[in-house]
Amino acid sequence: MDKNDEFIIQGLAGEKKLHGAVIINGAKNSALKAMAASILFDGPVILENVPDNSDIQTMISILEKMGAKINVKEKSFTSFPASPEPQRASKNSGGLILEIDATGINSTEIDPELATSMRASIVLTGSLMGRFGKVSFPAPGGCVIGARPIDLFLSGYGKMGATVKEENDCLHKISAIDGLKGAEITFSKISVGATETLMMAAVLAKGKTVLNNCAREPEIANVAEWLNVCGANIKGIGTPTIEVEGTNGKLLSFKESFVTIPDRIEAGSFLILGALCAKKLKIEKCQPKHMNTVVKLLVELGVNIKIEKDSIIVSASDFINSTLPRSIKTLEYPGFPTDLQPPLVVFLTQIKGQFSIRETIFEGRFKYVGDLIKMGANITTINSREIKIKGPTPLHELSENEELTAHDIRAGFALIVAALIGNGKFTINNVHLIDRGYEKIEERLKILGVEIERTDKAR
Ligand code: EPZ
Repeated sequence: MDKNDEFIIQGLAGEKKLHGAVIINGAKNSALKAMAASILFDGPVILENVPDNSDIQTMISILEKMGAKINVKEKSFTSFPASPEPQRASKNSGGLILEIDATGINSTEIDPELATSMRASIVLTGSLMGRFGKVSFPAPGGCVIGARPIDLFLSGYGKMGATVKEENDCLHKISAIDGLKGAEITFSKISVGATETLMMAAVLAKGKTVLNNCAREPEIANVAEWLNVCGANIKGIGTPTIEVEGTNGKLLSFKESFVTIPDRIEAGSFLILGALCAKKLKIEKCQPKHMNTVVKLLVELGVNIKIEKDSIIVSASDFINSTLPRSIKTLEYPGFPTDLQPPLVVFLTQIKGQFSIRETIFEGRFKYVGDLIKMGANITTINSREIKIKGPTPLHELSENEELTAHDIRAGFALIVAALIGNGKFTINNVHLIDRGYEKIEERLKILGVEIERTDKAR
């Protein structure tokens, strides 16, 4: 997994022949937060079903640099051909098992270089502030999908009695000499990261914290429920108002291991891929109830989907037709997820009808659209938050030496789907961004029948 890695993909030119099953990994955006929460504990914690992608590796490095000890145990594989009938995966889908002992953390400085490569690093400020009452960190990086400010975090810490200083190079130093104090915080905007970060900070703060206008993503509940089993007192999990009563000491390790929920975004990505290219694709070990909005939309648009207890079977229809123009917007959970907007747009280029997509979460998430237009898609950009799509349009090969560029994790996956529908051979660069969220994606796709190779551009 190198910055020069590229994917070469042979398009199926509209044929719907992928076949098999894929096991969904644990949710990256849940596991990363549980890793950050390990700092709140009095000893080692065990995290199960952790996906093996590069963001998880980055978080491991950040924690280790601060003094945590991490033991990584290997895992089993995550996809297989449809025949013979796949064996059932055991307790969880077999992700990594991490044992994290953060008791020896002796630094409250989040490594600037690592932090700027991953937005989720900011969540560490919550557990560090809760435990040590101080932290220094750079403006966090991550996917370039919009401005991604951190005002909600900073004003939240201010309300909890901390002082925030910004130094040159955007280095932030936050400190609360006598520790954080409970407070009532009303987020001016719904934010996943701010909800989980301030929730973690409040666990070890003095007194009661009330967080209003919280995000309700299932990944937040996954972490909060585990913290409660280990001694935290968090109420209102999964609702817009979360109340946290601070504990009198760190959380109890070894109470229960954290089991990462299935990645609903990975499952949704494969669902859309299957809706376009699969004779039959079984998406195993997912949590269909976390995907209601996505499934409902695809079913309304005519996709063949069968829901089972923890799997979804999808097969592509030959002709899907939306008679009325449709307007779809991304929203916070339980709305349509922004992370599935790019693959959905690729899907809509293949559907007869007119669609408008409004991106309400991030203002910079249509960068990949230019590549789709180069492939022949009929897409009009209205502004940085809205596009219009008229389909269906076959997607064709680019001219010689032209490549597709993965601008972020999800746009990268969307380009894989676009290349697969397309007629010809396609090169996708910036594959290291796809690796941040999709573990060994080419190996899993090959098993389903995709012709995909990873090459090193520099070689
Ligand atoms: C999380 O990002 C996810 N990342 C993102 O997944 C996901 O797209 C996003 O939630 C929305 O679902 C992780 O969990 C690591 P937000 P996060 O704070 O927490 C604004 C992926 O591909 N905002 O909910 O950073 C912000 O600019 C990634 O896996 C402020 O204005 O998202 C955005 O417009 C990409 N001020 C909105 O809130 C703040 O202080 C929602 O962002 C914080 C956020």
